[in-house]
This record gives sequence, structure tokens and C-alpha cells, in this order.
Amino acid sequence: MKYYILFGPPGAGKGTQASSMVEKFNLCHLSTGELLRSEIAAGSELGLKAKALIEAGALVPDEVVEGMIESKFKSVKGVDGFLLDGFPRTIAQAKALDEMLAKTGESVTSVVSIMIPDEMIMERIRHRASIEGRADDAKEEVVANRIKTYHDKTEPLIGFYTETGRYNEIDGVGTIEEVRERIFDLMSKY
Ligand code: AP5
Ligand code: MG
Repeated sequence: MKYYILFGPPGAGKGTQASSMVEKFNLCHLSTGELLRSEIAAGSELGLKAKALIEAGALVPDEVVEGMIESKFKSVKGVDGFLLDGFPRTIAQAKALDEMLAKTGESVTSVVSIMIPDEMIMERIRHRASIEGRADDAKEEVVANRIKTYHDKTEPLIGFYTETGRYNEIDGVGTIEEVRERIFDLMSKY
């Protein structure tokens, strides 16, 4: 099985690019953000716990997302691999992922990182807020906190995956089609 990590700051285009990536490479798209939003919509206990953290632009506890990912690895069949969108997001989650995969003698195939400047994050999220109505897109201070959380907790993963030769970055500035071509070129090498 292939295990691709789709990495990048909020609004970089992870969700946008994921659909064509899963189709071309027969992957299962696992977005921890989307899984958490469905828990909130369903009013589950987990959703209730996650809601306040997400709406403040903070991360939910590592164990919560690790558990969600591991159960999907066990239950999803009929694909050639997984596309992890928004996971891992902390060094602890990255280590937990390595341990999870090591149990079956597997490992992360490659990290595909979509990079855009901070000013563009705000612009893209403002645009999405007018279309999708995500609670964590509505307030500028929450988006600012998501950007800060990304720099503080998630950006250190770049060093973690670079050290082990798994990190690949592409420029996320350009049209959706241009970015998609850059991603396909990169993924075809793995
Ligand atoms: P999550 O849902 O993962 O949100 P995020 O990381 O903030 O990323 P986004 O979904 O906002 O951005 P995206 O890169 O998918 O951009 P998109 O393609 O939509 O997480 C939400 C929350 O859940 C977190 O804050 C946290 O609380 C919690 N959480 C999730 N995972 C967690 C974890 N592992 N650990 C702990 N907590 C976790 O694009 C954005 C907009 O730009 C769209 O309108 C799109 O149409 C547009 N766009 C995209 N590409 C282009 C382009 N090339 N040109 C012009 N516009 C474009
Ligand atoms: Mg997304």
C-alpha cells in the first residue's frame, strides 16, 4: 500500500487537489478535518469535544485523530493506498503514524507539500468562507490562529520528513490545473 501525506498550510489547496489525486492513483482520501466535521454534524461525543477546539483554530488532541486514522487503515479495502490530508499535524502524530505502519512492515511513501505564502492563505480562506460556510473560516482571528498553529506545531514536520528523505515541496501558487500537474509529476516518481 502507498501512504501519501498531503501537507500544507490552511487554504493551500489540499482538499481541492485531493479529488483528482485519489482518482488517478486509486487512493482513499482521509481528511482528518472532514472526519471531525462529520462527527460534529452527527452530534457525537467526539464531535462535541472537537467543536470548541476547531472553532478556536486550535488542534484536537493527538490521540483522537490517531485513533480515527488507524481505524480507517483497518476498515478501508479495495484501494492501492491512502492520501492523508491534514494528518499528521504534530511531530507526535508523525511518530505515531510511523509506529502504526511499522506494525504491518509499511512506511510513509512520500510527503507532497503544497506551499503558498501566508497572505494568500487569508485570501483563499476568505473566498471559501463566502461559498462553503465552514465555522472556522468565518472569523479572521480564528484563521489567524490556524496559521499560527500551523507555524508553531505543524511546520516542524518539514524538518522531520526532510531528515528521512520523504519530503517533497511543490509551489501552490498558480491555477488549480497548474498545481495539479506539478503534483502528478511528483507522485509519478513514487
Ligand atoms: P482541516 O480541515 O484540515 O483544515 P486546514 O488544514 O486548515 O486546511 P483547509 O481545509 O482550510 O485548506 P485546504 O488546504 O484543504 O484548502 P482548499 O483546497 O479547501 O482542519 C480543520 C481543523 O480540524 C483544524 O484547524 C484542527 O482544529 C482540526 N484538525 C484537523 N486535522 C487535525 C489533526 N491531524 N490534528 C489535530 N487537529 C486536527 O482550498 C481553499 C480555497 O482555495 C478553496 O476555496 C479553493 O477553491 C481555493 N483554491 C484551491 N486551490 C486554488 C488555486 N490553485 N488557485 C485559486 N484558488 C484555489
Ligand atoms: Mg481541506
